[in-house]
Amino acid sequence: MSTRDDQPSESANAGGEQVVTPWDVAGGADGKIDYAKLVNEFGCSTIDDALIARIEKVTGCRAHPFLRRGMFFAHRELDQIVTAYEKGEKFYLYTGRGPSSEALHLGHLIPFHFTRWLQEAFKVPLVIQLTDDEKFLWKSLKLEDARRLARENAKDIIACGFDPRRTFIFSDVNYMCTPFYLNVLKIAKCVTFNQARGIFGFSGESNIGQVGFPPTQAAPAFPDCFPHLFGTDKKSLRCLIPCAIDQDPYFRMTRDAAPRIGGYKPALIESRFFPALKGESGKMSASDPTSAIYVTDTPKQIKDKVNKYAFSGGRLTVEEHREKGGDLEVDISWKWLNFFMDDDDKLRTIGEAYGSGAMLSGEIKKELVECLTPMIVAHQEARAKVSDAVVDQFFSTAPRDFDSMFGELVG
Ligand code: TRP
Repeated sequence: MSTRDDQPSESANAGGEQVVTPWDVAGGADGKIDYAKLVNEFGCSTIDDALIARIEKVTGCRAHPFLRRGMFFAHRELDQIVTAYEKGEKFYLYTGRGPSSEALHLGHLIPFHFTRWLQEAFKVPLVIQLTDDEKFLWKSLKLEDARRLARENAKDIIACGFDPRRTFIFSDVNYMCTPFYLNVLKIAKCVTFNQARGIFGFSGESNIGQVGFPPTQAAPAFPDCFPHLFGTDKKSLRCLIPCAIDQDPYFRMTRDAAPRIGGYKPALIESRFFPALKGESGKMSASDPTSAIYVTDTPKQIKDKVNKYAFSGGRLTVEEHREKGGDLEVDISWKWLNFFMDDDDKLRTIGEAYGSGAMLSGEIKKELVECLTPMIVAHQEARAKVSDAVVDQFFSTAPRDFDSMFGELVG
């Protein structure tokens, strides 16, 4: 099993059993994740075409490719959020990131691109949690560095195009910030469950900060956490959470707690994992620069990495390739194009050509490079424009006008 580095990625598990938690993700014996099994074990539901059609109808927007193509494939009570919205009820979006690395890779952008689409389609407010405390507790990071990374990562998130008028970004440490809470966190990281067992009669290996962390990720699902946005009523709004499916345990816990604290259960829309550059069962990690494409990569690095490392479903010889066609099941260029190529017709043509052998591995890699490069260049340009003042605007806790965060924005 691999320890989750940054965002989970798939790796084969020695025991052959698939494991998915917010910290570890390992596929079964073949290294692959069995998503049907996961949905079944977790008890969430899959998103069907009828639900996608309802979303398109009520928002008047064509579904995002991540939704049309099944990257966001599972949910909890998404149908109920849609029903409520059809009747004119409001809701807000909540998502987040654990700021553990300086440079984000492509997989990290996926939930944010999707969330931005949800925000624009439904015209609703959004809160983004940066769990600098989580990364301090789980990684060998100084608290000060985790806080700095939260602000740096916020720039990449903002560069995805969120509107500051209806988006609030907060770092756990800042938003809870008192000198007192900083000490609570630092002390909590020092005490293991075992020590606590001796003292208090607990058992286990984790530090008690970890044991105590889940409520920190649960809380933003309740609108009264944000009085400057939503007022002080726990039932003022429903909440929809876009996330990768490894976060489901946190929100299963949250949904259980909701009625007991007098709030709505949050709804969820959950994605598959983004496949690693070197192949579905590999790991995208911040420490191995050849394992992922980063938002900071230059066009030349993108081209070189894709050409050298993108796992290919191409055959050994051109003759064999022409005869059998590329293997779409394992080809990373094909999988990534499915995430990032907007044009359905072009995508289908590439799939047919590559799958039949008319298109070669080098050619599909070229398509991928041509798709990724402008996207990453645009991201870098957008990020460069995010000044400290802009970051402050998103983090501002000044009261906002409730109604102005919904519906069409003017100006
Ligand atoms: N735990 C997540 C991570 O490590 C960050 C996170 C916090 C999050 N709140 C969230 C992710 C809500 C999705 C939805 O990346």
